[in-house]
Amino acid sequence: MTGRTAPLRLAILISGRGSNMLAIARACAAGAIDAQVTGVIADRADAAGLGAARGLGLEASALPARDFASRAAFETALGARLDALRPELVILAGFMRILGAGFVARYPGRMLNIHPSLLPAYRGLHTHRRVLEAGERLHGCSVHYVTEELDGGPVVLQGRLTVRAGEDEQALSARVQAIEHNLYPRAIGWIATGRLTWRDERAWLDGRPLAAPIVEDFDATEAG
Ligand code: GAR
Repeated sequence: MTGRTAPLRLAILISGRGSNMLAIARACAAGAIDAQVTGVIADRADAAGLGAARGLGLEASALPARDFASRAAFETALGARLDALRPELVILAGFMRILGAGFVARYPGRMLNIHPSLLPAYRGLHTHRRVLEAGERLHGCSVHYVTEELDGGPVVLQGRLTVRAGEDEQALSARVQAIEHNLYPRAIGWIATGRLTWRDERAWLDGRPLAAPIVEDFDATEAG
């Protein structure tokens, strides 16, 4: 039981294409999760996801980081714009900007991210390329709570696949993204129903502290 009478209010931050944002928005619209997107904010005016969000009838705006003299000034403005949306949960969906500790502290246990690797492996950028270069057999993506440690907050849900022989970065990235679109809405849905909560600086699932992420294998369910 969540005690909530209205859908969970989400605000989504993007930097680019916004395919995860769209997957989440569509899951909300379809009633697959009891949540609603109250607004989408991009840190770049040219983020393709802004137009896509508007196409779904969502409020979407740019807050170009380059217009601000410092990270602190940008984060102050971002916090004000976010708070105007009154989000219960802030969703980072391909938001390619490192957020300062002060900003993260505004939303304790109320900010999620998706990262294209099996965290704690391959934090940072170019994860698919680095996984291929290292000759890894397994790869995937992780939904995690955001803490001040970059890509370091508690991981809730992971989708895992087996890297194919000869697979290139583009193909691997596409397969991981398809899994992201499945995983991210479901993790948000867990919060909407109260299955997943944040208490005492840690994630709880079904009333128990989550000692390790839930890991799902996608090899068998992939189309191609
Ligand atoms: C996603 O694959 C996401 O995992 C990644 O950016 C992509 C955004 O795609 N995020 C990061 O690398 C964060 N460190 P999208 O804009 O189509 O959702």
